[in-house]
Amino acid sequence: MRKPVLAGNWKMYKTPAETRSFFEAFKPLVRDATHCDIVICPPFPNLPAAVDESKGTSIAIGAQNLYWGKEGAVTGEVSGHMLQAIGCSYVIIAHSERRQYFGECEADVVRKTQAALEYGLTPIVCVGERLEEREGSRTEDVLAAQFDGGLAPLAPEHFAKIVIAYEPVWAIGTGKTATPQIAADAHRFIRQKVAKKFGETLASSARILYGGSVKPDNVSSLMAEEEIDGALVGGASLDPKSFAAVVKY
Ligand code: 13P
Repeated sequence: MRKPVLAGNWKMYKTPAETRSFFEAFKPLVRDATHCDIVICPPFPNLPAAVDESKGTSIAIGAQNLYWGKEGAVTGEVSGHMLQAIGCSYVIIAHSERRQYFGECEADVVRKTQAALEYGLTPIVCVGERLEEREGSRTEDVLAAQFDGGLAPLAPEHFAKIVIAYEPVWAIGTGKTATPQIAADAHRFIRQKVAKKFGETLASSARILYGGSVKPDNVSSLMAEEEIDGALVGGASLDPKSFAAVVKY
């Protein structure tokens, strides 16, 4: 009942010309893939090329960040209003790299998520524990704090429109994928938090993606878990054949 989402996060890779080459190769490979929502999130300068290339396909385009205001004297930032105007439909919020390198916190999650929704963008909100937190048996405390601070303050009608991505930091870019069991346990914990705060209906419809070293050869075992509603893919989304194989898990 939950339509899977397979989303590629390109991080700080590719130029506009490389973006166009990717799409030329990728589009024919996923033409028949209607079982899931496909999203590609390139860096800001590549968004116009990506939006243009995705016209007439079912591929949606997302940004990797946004600022919460509409416009203003905020040097270096990009607003939801601007992303909407160029044809984006998704935006990643609070990726662990933004939390870690740019100090994004739960208050940012709330205002960025609200701003994204105001401009018709679907937020993909990231949560996940660091290695030392998992090793210290604090995974559930961390996920609970991220949920309570960043997602619980949302209005139920806003929460209903978001996608959550569970990305354990120790699995990102390391080749150490969480086992399907570890990922499913974390998703189940998050879904229980959703049920307690927003009720069973929203909990059972919430889409929770897994992210962290998802590759063509491990995606099907992750997707076999009922709790896992898709993937947020970094490295393996940069190559058209590899991301197409992930999409067609
Ligand atoms: P990798 O797939 O490269 O581990 O990156 C995961 C990620 O951070 C996606 O947002």
